[in-house]
Amino acid sequence: MPNTISNPVQELLENVSTPFTQARAMPKSVYTTKEFLNYELENIFKKDWFCAGRSDALKNIGDYLTLELAGQPIMVIRDNDSKIRAQSNVCRHRMSTLLEGSGNTRSIVCQYHAWTYGLNGALRGAPAMTLNDKFKKKDYCLPQIKCEEWLGWIMISLNQNAKPIVNSLSEVTDLIGDFRMETYTQTFSETHVWDTNWKVLAENFMESYHLPVCHSGTIGGLSKLEEMDCPPGKEAFNYHFILKEPHFKLANAHPNNTILKGDWRRTTVLLAIYPSLLITLTPGYFWYLSLHPKGVGQVHINFGGGMSPEFVSDPDAQDHFKAVKTLLDDVNIEDRGCTEKVFKGLLSDHATPGHLSHLERPNYDFAKYLASHA
Ligand code: FES
Ligand SMILES: [Fe+2]
Repeated sequence: MPNTISNPVQELLENVSTPFTQARAMPKSVYTTKEFLNYELENIFKKDWFCAGRSDALKNIGDYLTLELAGQPIMVIRDNDSKIRAQSNVCRHRMSTLLEGSGNTRSIVCQYHAWTYGLNGALRGAPAMTLNDKFKKKDYCLPQIKCEEWLGWIMISLNQNAKPIVNSLSEVTDLIGDFRMETYTQTFSETHVWDTNWKVLAENFMESYHLPVCHSGTIGGLSKLEEMDCPPGKEAFNYHFILKEPHFKLANAHPNNTILKGDWRRTTVLLAIYPSLLITLTPGYFWYLSLHPKGVGQVHINFGGGMSPEFVSDPDAQDHFKAVKTLLDDVNIEDRGCTEKVFKGLLSDHATPGHLSHLERPNYDFAKYLASHA
């Protein structure tokens, strides 16, 4: 009998040992096996930084959102000192989860027996606990999770030893600091679930090779393969640039923007910050996807976006942005079709990974990043 037992991490290590000029797409076991999913949850999502959204989504004291990161229920909340903190969303009594969805609250009250925590996670009250000799309120606090704000993003990590995000992403700031991404305002945020592996969607974002065909119904006609620039990636991210036409007003710098110069005024930057924050940044607007695996065959997507300050204060811009959002929704429908078809194909016995184009350089760098956690 042939040996059909494979080790997906080993297969990936072999795949990335090939130089880029001869490289192939990642092995299908990387996308389709529980073994690889467990590897990435333990070694990537539990170790690296994950984006929980934009800071301006939590403007007021008590604003919160909840999420699961590598199976861990987490709340992100603006505390009484106006600091955004991330903490375990699990009660310290009999371990129910606490908050749900997003909203605003003055305290965190467990819906099981009403143990009540302050916004900083300290236990403030617990009914009928006076007769337990060992119980001391001060011993109880929700476990704190690393949380840093970076260019307007809320970044969290389950790894207490994770390097400060400003250090690991300093090259991003060097590259696109003049966009002042921290000043952009979020105007929409949605969640979606698609039937594909999270990496298929991440890789789809990283390459613009698919634009002319997959997006022939929307933006495909504007995309010229010969004008795409895909430099080699960095340790913590990869990126590529597209130049936008001057008539696409919102993708060009506003006349009041005096910081961006020359071609930067019409440059769109596509940033893939590992593992799963994907940002399209233009001088006028931005949109992003923050991805998390939902099993092998589904991806949980946090999809948001908004505008730069000059456009936010421009009365015409709202209508322009509505048009951009409609276009983004149409583009997403096309991407959903392509990425769900890739996942179906990956499950085929006949599927084998083909060679990569020079326009898929970011995919190669992403594969190396995934393998580097082995
Ligand atoms: S489990 Fe939270 S109060 Fe009992
Ligand atoms: Fe696309």
